[in-house]
Amino acid sequence: MSGSSAPDERLTPDLGFGLGLRVEHYETVLAERPAIDWFEILTENYLVDGGKPLHYLDRIRGHYPMVMHGVSLSIGSTASLDFDYLAKLATLARRVEPEWISDHLCWTGTHAHNLHDLLPLPYTDESIAHVVDRVTQVQDFLGRRLMLENVSSYVTWQASEYTEWEFLAAIAEEADCSILMDVNNVYVSSQNHGFDPLDYLQGIPVQRVGQMHLAGHSHNGSLIIDTHDHPVPDPVWELYGHAVARFGSVPTMIERDARIPPLGELLVELDHARALSAEVVEAAA
Ligand SMILES: [Fe+2]
Repeated sequence: MSGSSAPDERLTPDLGFGLGLRVEHYETVLAERPAIDWFEILTENYLVDGGKPLHYLDRIRGHYPMVMHGVSLSIGSTASLDFDYLAKLATLARRVEPEWISDHLCWTGTHAHNLHDLLPLPYTDESIAHVVDRVTQVQDFLGRRLMLENVSSYVTWQASEYTEWEFLAAIAEEADCSILMDVNNVYVSSQNHGFDPLDYLQGIPVQRVGQMHLAGHSHNGSLIIDTHDHPVPDPVWELYGHAVARFGSVPTMIERDARIPPLGELLVELDHARALSAEVVEAAA
């Protein structure tokens, strides 16, 4: 498959350009109502019974569309699916009415241990069947399609039979879920494992991509670490241009999780994403 698909072929709406909602920006968002098309919330921060997080969530939701992004699903684990977690997720989804719900294509531990990290899976037929079965269970439980994000990685499995992009594409097609394409993660993994990031983009089915993440990273010796604590660097912007050329105009957000700057700095980055995307889409028209 090549080229961009028309918006009506997509599985998810074209929301525009968003930001991750962070505590540091609650008051500014409510006071200034900045030109942000939507917010992504970190699901786990709002799985509480009340208090400040839900107070701000409801007020901000009154003005902006939202999507929910989680880190606890551990869709690749061999531990049983956590239906208590999924029930809380469903309750929060009834409150937020998100455009979609995403988590990561990874595993985070076993029954006995939570490793608190988003770890890659072996890219095998057995893993594909395992993850497809679990995504299907989650989608049936939630009554909606799930969106899965590619993680960055620093290790690979010798057992892998496929590339990461073949693995991700197979799961998305077989489970009928959508994809959150983290452009920074593709770049980080391409540097750590020595593949061409354009091969990755080319291997992903266009209509499955419902959202893109842009973020910064850190260098640690020979490895690049996905730290989300820096502005989006030039190589990631360049790869984003290629991603827009391949996938078309896709809802995009800046993901900053540490060293959170004033909101204005993120708005400058978001404007850059908006302009770059428009430029690439126009050039392709
Ligand atoms: Fe991400």
